[in-house]
Amino acid sequence: MELSRRTVIAGAGAAAAGAAATTALGGTAHASPGRGKPARTLFGRLADGTKVHSWSLANGGTRLKVLSYGGIVQSLEVPDRRGRHANVSLGFGTLEEYVASSPYFGALIGRYGNRIGAGRFTLDGTVHQLSVNDGANSLHGGERGFDKRVWDVEPFAEGSDVGLRLSYVSADGEMGYPGTLRTRVTYTLTRHGDWRVDYAATTDRATVVNLTSHVYWNLAGESGGSVADHELSIAATRYTPVDSGLIPTGELARVGGTPFDFRGAKPVGRDLRAAHPQILYGQGFDHNWVLDKGVTARPQHAATLRDPASGRTLRIATTEPGLQFYSGNFLDGTLVGTGGRVYRQGDGLCLETQHFPDSPNRPSFPSTVLRPGGTYRSTTVHSFDA
Ligand code: BGC
Repeated sequence: MELSRRTVIAGAGAAAAGAAATTALGGTAHASPGRGKPARTLFGRLADGTKVHSWSLANGGTRLKVLSYGGIVQSLEVPDRRGRHANVSLGFGTLEEYVASSPYFGALIGRYGNRIGAGRFTLDGTVHQLSVNDGANSLHGGERGFDKRVWDVEPFAEGSDVGLRLSYVSADGEMGYPGTLRTRVTYTLTRHGDWRVDYAATTDRATVVNLTSHVYWNLAGESGGSVADHELSIAATRYTPVDSGLIPTGELARVGGTPFDFRGAKPVGRDLRAAHPQILYGQGFDHNWVLDKGVTARPQHAATLRDPASGRTLRIATTEPGLQFYSGNFLDGTLVGTGGRVYRQGDGLCLETQHFPDSPNRPSFPSTVLRPGGTYRSTTVHSFDA
């Protein structure tokens, strides 16, 4: 297997790797991309020889690196209140690490974000058995979801926007899902430095779809350690409690008076150790919040995450009705990140816009069914300031 430049860097000692990787990401080794068409470099090769590229784009102060493998956001740099950039998205320096064992760092998730109970659902009277990869359940599309596929990537620069159009055709029956799913995800950096994600999909047979992005945020920088001091607010009065396998019970419970109340900004760590049965199930927060705005035609405010130390603030607006807040509970100190430092529990958190987990088995939840002739659409906008 050909070694990418970053593979060689990661092969050096941890300290050297940290310094070298920071240089590479900070744009000293590669000239930092200005606004203009995104640029492509070889990131590595899969075992079968398939090339994986890294695309660099920048606009409005935000710098993004995206891999054709999994549509992975490998690096996302934004300035702090003094104008200093840091990569705020957890990830790896090499393709080999992404392939070997990644907890979905930065990846596109499909066909179905989060869990489907027993990896099974019935649609129009037919039972579909999915690939099961999380105990008895199917998580994030099954054993080989969209995060492990090589996407076609087309760069664009239109008006004041720059971006990438990623497409992937998922064959009928892939991971047990019915229908050929033609998927297109557009990553746009706006002149304000917003990162916008537009998802679209069509099918030739009735199916279910729920696409999302699995960036782990650490607004202090990906090597910044615990995000317990980050302040989070979520515009949701209810959430979906789960059973011990993290499958929703079907109830929409009120957040008031519980650790799940993020209606006002609250440090992520404040209630993370609350002896609440739901916290024990997820070993922290790993739940779907029911956004008060519901499904909307245009992206509307869902959540704000802020690191008081750096001032970096992320605002998320979405068309989706739900938000999975996962507090990085299963990071266990066994992975070395982009900057050469070990990731431990709670060193990053995910805010995944989505339809609710297990919706195909819950007729009372907003529907995730897509039929031939229809188009699945979903948009999430990430805005940054400091
Ligand atoms: C899920 C977690 C899961 C994680 C995988 C999250 O979206 O909610 O339960 O462990 O993804 O890294």
